[in-house]
Amino acid sequence: MKYFIMLLLIALWSDKVLCQSMENDWHKMNRSKERALQDFQQQKFGMFIHWGLYAIPGGIWNGKTMEEMGIPNVAEWIQLVAKIPRKEYADLAALFNPVDFDADHIVNMAKEAGMKYIVITSKHHDGFALFESKVSDFDIMDATPFKRDIVRELYEACKRHQLEFGVYYSHNIDWADGADAQYATTKAANDLTNNDTDSFGANLWDPSPNGFSTYLKNKAIPQVKELLEQFPGIRYIWFDMPGLMTPEQSYTFYKTVYDINPDVIIAERIGNDMGDYAIPGDNRIPTADDQFDKPWEAIGTFNHSWGYKSYDNDWKSADELLYWLIEIVSKGGNYMLNIGPDAKGNVAPTVMNNLQKLGSWMAVNNEAIYGSKPWKVQREGPTTVSITDTEQREKEGFKVQFTSEDFWFTERGNQLYAISLELPESQIALVKSLARGEVDVKQVEILGAGKVAFRQTEEGLTIKLPKSVQKLPKGYTLKITRN
Ligand code: GLC
Repeated sequence: MKYFIMLLLIALWSDKVLCQSMENDWHKMNRSKERALQDFQQQKFGMFIHWGLYAIPGGIWNGKTMEEMGIPNVAEWIQLVAKIPRKEYADLAALFNPVDFDADHIVNMAKEAGMKYIVITSKHHDGFALFESKVSDFDIMDATPFKRDIVRELYEACKRHQLEFGVYYSHNIDWADGADAQYATTKAANDLTNNDTDSFGANLWDPSPNGFSTYLKNKAIPQVKELLEQFPGIRYIWFDMPGLMTPEQSYTFYKTVYDINPDVIIAERIGNDMGDYAIPGDNRIPTADDQFDKPWEAIGTFNHSWGYKSYDNDWKSADELLYWLIEIVSKGGNYMLNIGPDAKGNVAPTVMNNLQKLGSWMAVNNEAIYGSKPWKVQREGPTTVSITDTEQREKEGFKVQFTSEDFWFTERGNQLYAISLELPESQIALVKSLARGEVDVKQVEILGAGKVAFRQTEEGLTIKLPKSVQKLPKGYTLKITRN
């Protein structure tokens, strides 16, 4: 008995030592990415692309919609929600021939919208790789008639147009090859400790016969290596849905990436608090109560699905998207907005139009966005909005009408920016947070319209807006130089 207890103590102790050294190593690696993280925070606005075989069913399987099958929105989850056997789902690859896909067109669209980076799903939960993979035949080159490496084409186009590039990679869930995402073994261990085990996302209807660790060893880790080796300019890796991953497993992914390219920064969902940057949640704009000890990126959909959903035409308007961008940036985050091309590679016309409108606003106002930081006041004005998740936003819609008293603030060096989305009827703007005593104003300029006279009182900063503001894309931005 004594011997057994001693062995147990040694085991526990060495586990602790291992954890400690893993944690120390992680901190060392994470700290070395300070510069890469700063660059990331300057970018502010990016494009997320969810694309894969799920674009073919587009949210409908055997005549049933996602809603009818029980999990709304996420059309890229169709294999799970319809419990499609692996073999049957894999047959979709033979139909995947997105002849209209044009990487330059997509990258240009992002660039003209004012986006600075693109992150594409190199492999989503279905296990299908959009890039050439030597370790799996379930990829764009081997399994489809298309035979063009989509990730490579986008990567090259990003280089041509000077956009940064990143990949999403579903490291834990892989319905084709990832077995049950170690659900059974974790559950068995947890039954002894009375801990809950969540099977959410695991393939329990037709799991691959190999074990989860075989999947990690033979597919996930090798594919992450392939991505980093084939695309040395990758800046971001967006792992997702860590589920039951252990700290050791998350660490192995982190270290694998670091050893090949130490400048790549990794999103939160690598799991076990090992991300370099935080993600507040799907379609969630953080509130003042959310505290982040890492740089963060808010992510949102254009309609309510990430992957193409043929019957969801509830597109966010350009005005709403502008609100998301300004709200997120004035709180200090990046905004990554998602598009889901269809099975031919096309993007809905409304999406393109709204991106163009955002681009017109950005062309005039982008200096209040890129490289900016939050000011001590994030916003003022009577209008409040709360966006907590996909379902809430879908249910409630976006009926907000901003007023000319609503302002958002950002700051860059000695410049302070006050962004408004509505012109006052009186043509007189009053910004209360910029009252005398609060800020020592030297000069005021309206982006796209030039310098203006101002008056500063205890009540605020008053400006008579020139007629030319009416020609600006939406509202106006005050650029304030301080003494
Ligand atoms: C969720 C979903 C996934 C989507 C992702 C985007 O975790 O599983 O389908 O890719 O969110 O944030």
